[in-house]
Amino acid sequence: MGLTGTGLANQSSRMEKSDEKGRKATDCVHAGTQSGRPEDGLNTPIIASSAFDYRTDGQVRYPRYFNTVNHRAVADKLAALEGAEAGLVTGSGMGASSAVFFSLMGPGDHAIVLRGLYGGTTDLIDNLLKPLGFEFSEWSGRPDELPGLVRENTRLLWVESPTNPLMQIIDLAETARACRQRGLVRVIDNTFASPVNQRPLELGFDLVMHSATKYLGGHSDLIAGGLAGSGALIEQILPNAIRLGSAPNGQDLALLERSMKTLEIRVTRASDNALDLANRLPALDGITEVYYPGLESHPGHQVATRQMDRYGAMLSFRLARGTDPEAFLDRLRLIRPAVSLGGVESTICQPSRTSHAKLAPDQQGDLGIDDRLMRLSVGIEDVRDLAGDLYQALQ
Ligand SMILES: Cc1ncc(COP(=O)(O)O)c(C=O)c1O
Repeated sequence: MGLTGTGLANQSSRMEKSDEKGRKATDCVHAGTQSGRPEDGLNTPIIASSAFDYRTDGQVRYPRYFNTVNHRAVADKLAALEGAEAGLVTGSGMGASSAVFFSLMGPGDHAIVLRGLYGGTTDLIDNLLKPLGFEFSEWSGRPDELPGLVRENTRLLWVESPTNPLMQIIDLAETARACRQRGLVRVIDNTFASPVNQRPLELGFDLVMHSATKYLGGHSDLIAGGLAGSGALIEQILPNAIRLGSAPNGQDLALLERSMKTLEIRVTRASDNALDLANRLPALDGITEVYYPGLESHPGHQVATRQMDRYGAMLSFRLARGTDPEAFLDRLRLIRPAVSLGGVESTICQPSRTSHAKLAPDQQGDLGIDDRLMRLSVGIEDVRDLAGDLYQALQ
């Protein structure tokens, strides 16, 4: 378990917003590193063992218990970046989400979830948690509609912002205020924004969840997840994360720790690229709608400006009716059609066939998802090459 031990995390949570940019870059590089012995050098050593002598220091060490230095290093770095007391790094984003639901509620308890979450989260809710007797209500995202959904047995609120794939923005401070008195645990999947662009704990949320497979990993070569929140919440979730078997191994953790050192620089560059592209796309023939919170025309623009440092590197657009989605994808030369997101390379996908494929066609339709909707994960390439690729593929 990664209760922050370095002190860096606690200091960063007290910094003014204007100072945060510098701190984030520093925390990306330094926070959490677990190298004390001269022979370790500058980096956390990679622990390759799964067997430890249990008599040496009174601790039963075992990687599934999240208690190697590699688990601690990444958990502490994530906690520092989110301004949290504690962190936990899991074997996948879904491993983190499952551990949260099973720890903070049980059969007969109720949760409020934002309509239009990542498809895997909806699948977990519909096909595992509901059949077990967990109760859920969907929420539109409007804070004034939240109090009406709260019941006696409501235990948690689960949101995303920006949402996948239509980039809806939730007013996080307002949402946190709307259910502050009610004792709910407010959870956010912060995968799309990353802690570089948005730190929900500062806005009144209690727990942040990540698919670390995305921006935290950043190179499309590992699967991991993460949580950050109070020490008490992480302590509450840890036993179930152990029971569910969601601990990552030392090699993946070392790769993730190394990747997170460049998180700030990658996300900043990719977000700047995305803003640039989003401004160019509406002028292109063959595109009818562009969904990006950095555009003034986006309904969540003002809220996003208030609560995010940049608008993120994810954007979606809809092809015009006359444009064949398959042919468009085939014509792209640089931007790769792929599931997943958040890598240094730009990728594109149809949510109808990837992230939201498990939803029934009418569920997809209600969310505004069809085969012409394209979700672009903007990478760190030269933006002129990305714009050129989209332009030639639309010709
Ligand atoms: C927003 C969001 N949350 C959670 C997940 C699940 O993460 P993982 O695939 O690492 O389990 C994903 C994966 O695509 C995602 O996009």
